[in-house]
Amino acid sequence: MKLFEPFQLGALTLPNRIVRSATYEKMGDEDGFVTEQLIGMYEDLARGGAGLIITGNALVHTTGRSVPQQICIHNDFYIKKLKLLSDAVHALGKTIILQLAHGGRQSFPSLLAGRSPIAPSPVYEPTLKLTPQEMTHEDVWDMIDAFGTAARRAALAGFDGVQIHAAHGYLVNEFLSPHTNRRDDYWGGDEERRFHFLEEIIIAVRKEAGDGFPVMIKLNAEDFISGGLDVYESLRIALRLQNMDITAIEVSGGMYEAGQVTVKPGIQTIEQEAYFRRFSRQFKQSLQVPVMLVGGFKSRALMEEVLQTDDADLISLSRTLIREPDLPNLMHAGKEKADCISCNGCLRFFRIPFTHCVALAKEQKKGSG
Ligand SMILES: Cc1cc2nc3c(=O)[nH]c(=O)nc-3n(C[C@H](O)[C@H](O)[C@H](O)COP(=O)(O)O)c2cc1C
Repeated sequence: MKLFEPFQLGALTLPNRIVRSATYEKMGDEDGFVTEQLIGMYEDLARGGAGLIITGNALVHTTGRSVPQQICIHNDFYIKKLKLLSDAVHALGKTIILQLAHGGRQSFPSLLAGRSPIAPSPVYEPTLKLTPQEMTHEDVWDMIDAFGTAARRAALAGFDGVQIHAAHGYLVNEFLSPHTNRRDDYWGGDEERRFHFLEEIIIAVRKEAGDGFPVMIKLNAEDFISGGLDVYESLRIALRLQNMDITAIEVSGGMYEAGQVTVKPGIQTIEQEAYFRRFSRQFKQSLQVPVMLVGGFKSRALMEEVLQTDDADLISLSRTLIREPDLPNLMHAGKEKADCISCNGCLRFFRIPFTHCVALAKEQKKGSG
């Protein structure tokens, strides 16, 4: 089976094609430091067999807090404990990538001491009901610097690379998207200028972390809102990224105001799985850069088929691994389908104490009660 064959991702040799997609853990302490609980969760994932692990959204700048207790990397003092995390995963023989993130206009003012979130343009965000503050030219350069220095810290903390979160309506996506970027300067106005922010971030990351340090991008194939990114522009962005020798692109989609597009609930049939496959196929057909596909995977047969048809190089999983961190091992031993029921209880960030499978916890409570 291709799913369990090794894959060469740039300089990284992966034992199989299963990736743990970035998943916010809500296991940082109040100040965003790595905790023992967080390390334990990543040890479970490393033992569980995923060929590559991408952490949840690590915060590169205090203006971009989109969720409470996310891990932070905006200051050197985070390095020491982050190193404990990468060491723990390496001790189990696995590879770990840190996701670098800034929430942009999807950051909660309550997590920003009441300040307004920042964004490329003051475009109203209807789910949080706010209009962000437009970033100045200086703010933009500060942010590029923040991503660069965060990558340097990730390298010092022993991570095997970084993934820049350029999807799901967060800051980098906001610069790429014509819906959220209404600027008419070096940072916006046309497609080429909307790409400058991500381009400069990649340059800064390489300057700070070294040219050989793997840099991956999570990208929206479509924003799923009118006037947002469509797949044709995303393909051209991906081509620019390929020309910059990016290690891999993870294909996703949606932003808060698009509704339940990114993390689709109620996936029941195999036809509903892999809901961004049509996009990753287009990426694969026109690019050489390795493509990861995320969104709705549950069945081993479909993961295998996607790889066999060359619609993706790697299969990314989030919710199924929250419920079953050892799903890759179970599938290797013959398990056909993940137990996750895509109820999205794990997404109720503000109601649950840490990211876990709410459905499983309920079942266990019932069983023991
Ligand atoms: C609890 C939870 C937290 C998530 N956190 C992140 C994150 O930090 N960064 C990110 O890029 N995507 C995040 N996602 C999105 C997933 O990586 C993935 O794109 C999405 O859930 C679809 O994949 P799935 O069907 O395998 O869950 C999160 C999803 C869930 C359910």
